[in-house]
Amino acid sequence: MTPGVRPLIAGNWKMHGTVAEAAALAGAVRDGAVGGLPADLLVCPTFLHVAGVAALLAGSPVAVGAQDCHAAAKGAHTGDVAAPMLRDAGATHVILGHSERRADHGETDATVRAKAEAAAAAGLTPIVCVGETEAERLAGRAEAVVEAQLAGSLPDGFAGVVAPAGGAGIIAYEPVWAIGTGRTPTEADIAAIHGTIRARLAARFGAAGQGMRILYGGSMKPGNARAILALPNVDGGLVGGASLVAADFLAIARAAG
Ligand code: PGA
Repeated sequence: MTPGVRPLIAGNWKMHGTVAEAAALAGAVRDGAVGGLPADLLVCPTFLHVAGVAALLAGSPVAVGAQDCHAAAKGAHTGDVAAPMLRDAGATHVILGHSERRADHGETDATVRAKAEAAAAAGLTPIVCVGETEAERLAGRAEAVVEAQLAGSLPDGFAGVVAPAGGAGIIAYEPVWAIGTGRTPTEADIAAIHGTIRARLAARFGAAGQGMRILYGGSMKPGNARAILALPNVDGGLVGGASLVAADFLAIARAAG
């Protein structure tokens, strides 16, 4: 945790769920958040489910995000979705540069940076993902890879996203080899790389960088969340598999307290 920064627990639902299943999961998260939690909550369904989930969660403390957006505000881009459309549908956040998009769709740091600019211009808070592969970690290059991704993926406006989202952009450190594998880095390794990210953010964005949220992602579960979330400069989690089970997602949020 970073003193004075409220944690964020974000669920990345990836390519899962029917309309009914997305609604049921969102409803269960909303109901579980009644009475207050020690973290802000965000769920990120597929594009198809953003509007329905946002309508269901309107007026609740659970925010809705998307998993990607296009870098253009509109235009001839078959199959893509623009940031202003997501904002209009009720999203407040968007995950960008997830390693699955970098791998499946060839997204580069420059692509991610352009998308983050588009998101901020539309009033969406970007959550920019960075993280090394296992080969990069074994070669001792994890920190260098993450620093290069940060330098290339974050637009200058990352420190101050426009209203209504407000505040600054968010970073998610997700080691590629920890995603969906049940494996996580050691607590010391997580603390070290989050410390490096904090130093980079502070060097580039000053005081705003000191307060930006840095999430950890990769096999976060109820059983390991408390220890991970207690580490310095870990300001929440980006949760994949465990976010598809409302009880597990809520248990992770409670572990932030
Ligand atoms: P996981 O995914 O929690 O299933 O490892 C995290 C992510 O990819 O955001």
